[in-house]
Formats: sequence, structure tokens, C-alpha cells
Amino acid sequence: MTFLTSLPFCAGVTTNNFVPMACLTILTVPDARLKVKALPVPLVDDSIRKLMDDMMETMYADDGAGLAATQVGINKRVIVVDLGEHTPDMGPLKFANPEIIWRSTEVKKNWEACLSVPGQSAQVERFTAIRLRYLDENNTAQEKDFDDWAAICLQHEIDHLDGILYIDHLSALKRNLLISKARKFRKSE
Ligand code: NI
Repeated sequence: MTFLTSLPFCAGVTTNNFVPMACLTILTVPDARLKVKALPVPLVDDSIRKLMDDMMETMYADDGAGLAATQVGINKRVIVVDLGEHTPDMGPLKFANPEIIWRSTEVKKNWEACLSVPGQSAQVERFTAIRLRYLDENNTAQEKDFDDWAAICLQHEIDHLDGILYIDHLSALKRNLLISKARKFRKSE
């Protein structure tokens, strides 16, 4: 996920002058791999920690706020999130097998963007608060509540693990328009 304010910087990794070795390639619509449902990881070991670190670097390089392994073509239930100034107390977080175990009754429409749908944004309805069960980078089981931007971003990233993009919450007409605009945007980069 990206914030609307960061959209002009939502460029592919290949356009950066400096590309760290660990940067992964972000898939963009309409790549069929974005529709794959990811598999749980049995445990968070060194290979998963390396994946989390590489994903974090990839996300920072593209000025993103969240990234799911599905977006880099890896079929594992892993996401990373750093909301930066939006939630300064939270810091960067890494999740394996994130599962929403509680949702608020309240929902709200917010603007969302995504590194896999470059240059586009749309309003999507999300729960305003969620409780998450997951494994952290130390393979420790956690349960934590998130609201506001963190809740929105986490719902967006967990959707990715189920092969769902934010544009899948829109009408087919709007979705197809955004896919077509994202393809043109990517070609023009
Ligand atoms: Ni996204």
C-alpha cells in the first residue's frame, strides 16, 4: 500500500539510481501471480527473516507503506508494514501468517493506492479497527489491536495474501479502468 501523498514517487525499482542487492521486483496488474492465494509459513526461520528484510528494503525503495510477499511473486503469508510519520509510535513491523481475529462494527471509506497498481488510487471501505494474530520475526505468536491507518494498511496487505487487490473491491468498470491506466502509467515511467 502507498499513501496518496507518496504517489508521484511510486516508481518501479529499475528507475532508481541506486538499487540495493536485496531489492525484489514488484509485480503489477494484470500479472496473474497477484491473484494467487499464499500459503502459511510453518515457522519464521532465517530464510523468512531474510525475505522480510528484503521486502522491507523493496518497500522503502518504492516509497511504500506496506508490502505483501504475493507482490514479489513469493507464495508465502508474509507482510511488512511501515507507516512512518502516520503512526510514529509503531515503527516497522513484520508479520507471518497474519490473521484477522476481530473486526470493528464501524467501517470507513479511505483513499488507497498500491505498488502493484502504479500511479492510481481509489476509495475503499475498511473496518476501522482489527485484532491480528500472527508470528513476529522471532517466530513468537502475537495478538495485537490496530486502528486508523495501521488497520487500513493491514487489511490491504492481508487481502494481497488472498490474491485480492484493493481494486477488486470496486466495480468491474472502475477496476478495469484503473488496470488500464496503471499499465499506461508503468509504460510511461
Ligand atoms: Ni498493495
